[in-house]
Formats: sequence, C-alpha cells, structure tokens
Amino acid sequence: MRVLSGIQPTGQIHIGNYLGAIKQWLLLQEKNECFFFIADLHSLTIPYQPENLQKNILETAIVYLAAGINPEKSIFFVQSDIKEHTELCWLLNTVAPIGDLERMTQYKEKSRQFKKNINAGLLVYPVLQAADILLYKTEGVPVGKDQVQHIELARTIARKFNQRFGKTFVEPKAVLAKMGAKIMSLNNPKQKMSKSLESQSYISLFEEPGEIKRKVMSAVTDTGKQIKYNPGKKPGISNLLIIYSLFSEKPIKEVEKIFKGKGYAQFKKSLAELLINSLEPFRKKRKELLSREVYVRETLKLGAKRARAIAESTMHDVRQKIGLA
Ligand code: ADP
Ligand code: TRP
Repeated sequence: MRVLSGIQPTGQIHIGNYLGAIKQWLLLQEKNECFFFIADLHSLTIPYQPENLQKNILETAIVYLAAGINPEKSIFFVQSDIKEHTELCWLLNTVAPIGDLERMTQYKEKSRQFKKNINAGLLVYPVLQAADILLYKTEGVPVGKDQVQHIELARTIARKFNQRFGKTFVEPKAVLAKMGAKIMSLNNPKQKMSKSLESQSYISLFEEPGEIKRKVMSAVTDTGKQIKYNPGKKPGISNLLIIYSLFSEKPIKEVEKIFKGKGYAQFKKSLAELLINSLEPFRKKRKELLSREVYVRETLKLGAKRARAIAESTMHDVRQKIGLA
C-alpha cells in the first residue's frame, strides 16, 4: 500500500499526535511505501512568525526522526520543497465544491479561533491537503479522527477529477488507530488534546519527567473513586486509562484489574511513571539529533529529491489530462 501523512510545524508534538498518528506511521513504514512530510504551507494559514518558521520546520523534522521515522524506509520531506503541491492545489481548486469546503469542521473552528484572520487559505486548506495526497497516488492516510473529513473530501475531489478528465487519481482512505484516534485534553477531557491549547492540556513527546508528573497528577478526573472505563460518565479517567493501556500495551480491562480498589492518586502516580519511562528514548534521541543539524537538513534534501521525481511524473499526466499540455 502507498501511505502518506503530514504534520504542521506548529507547536509541540504531544502524546495525542503520537498515539493517533505517528505510532501508526512507525508500524506502516515497515511494510509499505511511505511518504511523511512537514506541512509548512498549511501552517501559513494561521498567525505565525516568519523569522521562526525555518527553526520550527527543523525542530519538527527532528521530532519525526526522534519518534522513529526511518528515512531509509520512508520518503521524508518538506512540503514547500515540492512546487507540485501548490500547482496541483490550484488545479484541484477548480473541481472542489465550495459548499463542502464551507462545511469542514476545522475551517469553522479555525475561523472562530482566529476571527481577525479568516483568510482564503483556511477555506482551501483541505484542497491543498487533497493535492498532497493525490500527487503521490496515495491509498492509505494514517491520521487522527479530526482529519477524516478532509480525507473524505480528497476522495470526492479525486472522483470528480477522474469523472471529468479520465482516470488519473487513486481514491484514498483514512487509516485510523483502533484506540487512541482521539486522545482528550488533560485539563478538559471533553476537548481533544491539541497543541494549539494551553500547555497544561497536553504532554509533549519530549516532556521532562518533572513536568510529566505535575501534569498527570493535576489532570482533571471525575467524581467517584473507581478506576473504570466509561467515556460517557467518566471522560477524565477513561482518557487516562486509554493512555495507560496504549503505553503499557495492556488491554484496558487488565489495567482496571491492576488498579481495582486503589485510588485515583495511585493510578496517576503509576501512569506518570509509565509515561516518564516510555518517553525517555524520545527525549534521548531528540537531544542527540539537536546536535546533528547538517544530517537532518541533508536527509530532508534527499527526501525531497525522491518525492519530486514522483510528483513531477503525476503532474506531467495531470497537465495533459486537463489540457495544459
Ligand atoms: P493539533 O490538533 O494538536 O494541532 P495536528 O492538527 O498537527 O495537531 O495533527 C497532527 C496529527 O495528529 C493528525 O493526524 C491528527 O489527526 C492527529 N491528532 C491530533 N490531535 C490528536 C488527538 N488528540 N488524538 C489523536 N490524534 C490526534
Ligand atoms: N491537516 C493535517 C493536520 O492538521 C496535516 C496534513 C496536511 C496532512 N496535509 C496532509 C495529513 C496530508 C495527512 C495527509 O493534521
């Protein structure tokens, strides 16, 4: 299967991004043809500092590599290095239904969040995402639940294009984690864990042990004492149980058994320890990569070269189909 996914170079990567998206990428890269990239063009749609962008891109690249993306197995690159993404985005804009774009949850949320900057880029954001996906004839797109709507739209766009201009694109499918596709925020378990919320709501993949402990211990839990999975009635404890289960690789039922008759504090203490130990290798790898900037840059350059060859070939076909060549 051909697999592709991306992450924007905005903010800290957290355990939600890891459990919902990156962990799947690591599994998929073993047996599939994978493309992973840094979606820097997408990140321009929300307020940002131009002087920090290059630093953030490099930092995100280090995150990917520290998390386990293997550039020998996967094609790993920066979106803006491949001009074909923007070119295809424009062409797809001419088939994307505007009503669908206006219905996208992320567009509505971001317009609310950044009232002073509702730019056209926010609206066509999913068209650029469709271009990212279709350019490489991607079949599977491993993402968290919040992105499923965008992948469905990429399918619609592919279908419409194929109908109008002849079979050109593959219709992609979202690949979701069985558990962990929506990790909730620590201080508000009714909201998804997100890097655009305050740092109290998430645990970064590289969080220092002291901070992990502090954040887990102060995570919002529910009334009652029992450690029982019940997302409707006990969203806080259920979220922590999912996190515990995924990092310990033990089914939730077993985790419930371990903590039967024990209090929230004991469970949280144990979860903090589990997280400190599980995240230790990421912290180590990141520190090592921070001093290997040249290697990271060279890796991205090589990845772009490999991606470009495929992107150019697709665009050659697209230009002909559409009547531009
Ligand atoms: P954020 O919403 O934190 O800014 P991104 O939008 O950059 O994160 O998402 C990067 C990837 O991580 C996407 O595939 C997204 O679906 C996934 N993801 C984001 N938040 C979560 C979460 N809370 N639980 C599971 N997956 C998530
Ligand atoms: N929109 C995605 C997010 O916010 C990032 C992204 C951009 C992406 N292009 C993509 C994900 C293509 C999967 C495939 O998380």
